[in-house]
Amino acid sequence: MRSRERLIIPYRSKVIEPISLPPREERLKRIQAAGLNVFRLRSADVYIDLLTDSGTGAISASQLSRSMLGDESYAGSRSFEEMQQQIQETMGFPYTIPVHQGRAAEQVLNYVLIRRHMFVPGNTHFDTTKAHIELAQGRAIDCTIDAGKTSEGNYPFKGNVAVSKLEQVIEKYGARHIAYILMTITCNSGGGQPVSMQNIRDVRALASAHGLPLVFDAARFAENAYFIKLREPGYQDKPVIEIIHEMMGYADACTMSAKKDAIVPMGGFIACRDPDLYERLKTPAIIFEGYFTYGGMSGGDMEMLAQGLREVVDETYLAYRIGQVRRLGELLQSYGIPVVEPIGGHAVFIDARRFFTHVPDDEFPAQLLCAELYKEGGVRAVEVGAVLTGRDPDTGENIRPALDLCRLTIPRRVYTFEHLEYVADVIRTVREEKGTRMKRGICFDHEAEGIRHFSSTFRYL
Ligand code: F0G
Repeated sequence: MRSRERLIIPYRSKVIEPISLPPREERLKRIQAAGLNVFRLRSADVYIDLLTDSGTGAISASQLSRSMLGDESYAGSRSFEEMQQQIQETMGFPYTIPVHQGRAAEQVLNYVLIRRHMFVPGNTHFDTTKAHIELAQGRAIDCTIDAGKTSEGNYPFKGNVAVSKLEQVIEKYGARHIAYILMTITCNSGGGQPVSMQNIRDVRALASAHGLPLVFDAARFAENAYFIKLREPGYQDKPVIEIIHEMMGYADACTMSAKKDAIVPMGGFIACRDPDLYERLKTPAIIFEGYFTYGGMSGGDMEMLAQGLREVVDETYLAYRIGQVRRLGELLQSYGIPVVEPIGGHAVFIDARRFFTHVPDDEFPAQLLCAELYKEGGVRAVEVGAVLTGRDPDTGENIRPALDLCRLTIPRRVYTFEHLEYVADVIRTVREEKGTRMKRGICFDHEAEGIRHFSSTFRYL
């Protein structure tokens, strides 16, 4: 089952950060004190941290040295020009609004594009994306293909938008009431699954037919492009940078969390083609973020972002990045662990309902699994399931999401495969000792208001 292809690692460590595994009794105390919620742990109590790939990547020596060149001028910073030029070179958009991270880009863009009761159809909007659409008094409509809603089946582009669903939405509400169409590349909440070039082309055609803007949530754009190269006929021999240019060429604008595929600890931007849209974005950018040539980023951060964009499109880097995540997934599969197939770009997602075969769905199996992984080996994963999804605002009932997942998110350039083998061994032990034996899950001890997964606490049933 495991691929035998050789993976070339295009970097080595020069600076290291010590980590340690707290003793078992200590881990049990810590997770109890955290109310079985790994967000409430101190990072010093975690051995391998797979909570997120956001802002957790290792920066390169070139990024570090460039950060020293940062021009910290309030207006017209040279570092802004450098970043804007690099974004144009990599993604093809001439105008850039810097912001402090991805959700800030969502806030500014939605403030401009959404009017009351407008809709934003797309593919499994990320949770902050959906929340910002709602804050601007719009509604997100999920039009992901049905294959993207199951953990089984090896369909290569499970992030795709179902064009027929999209057509129905436009027909039902009328194009006037659609603010824009959103494509998330890759689709994080659906399991890190990519979108195909054909699907992007089809959605572009539909958007153009109705005069609608197409916006990308481009957080993991380079990973998406690499999947197109690996999986879509006709792209095997194309350089990734050309695939990126073609992909981006179909979009009118993008929001970007630079904490992912620009490999920086903090930063983001909106990029667009239309000078009028750029003008309209400036005022909300100033109000929410800062003057439109820094928008919440320091000059040094903008230099690092520009350099990160140059590094992320390197094909040896992408082959290793995607290959390392896939190898972890394959190792888990060889241990009989149920993971979302095909393996995604930035994370391996465990299907917790199939992992704990006897724990009832409404007793939060994925949240339970995160707690058990910490207890067994100091590993911190994150729940992407029923706790995150929350309650139906109308009925107050817990929503039952299609999948209840435990996400092992791999930071960029940080862990060796030995670290990941350790993680796989911890998961195998939990599966062997508890997979069929646990009959009950957990329930809320205290359910936090609003976005509940960060601070709620739980207890065993
Ligand atoms: N869009 C996608 C697809 C994301 O995955 C994220 C963040 C955002 C937007 C928001 O960006 O964090 O810079 O404000 N995802 C992180 C994660 C938090 O862990 O998946 P942000």
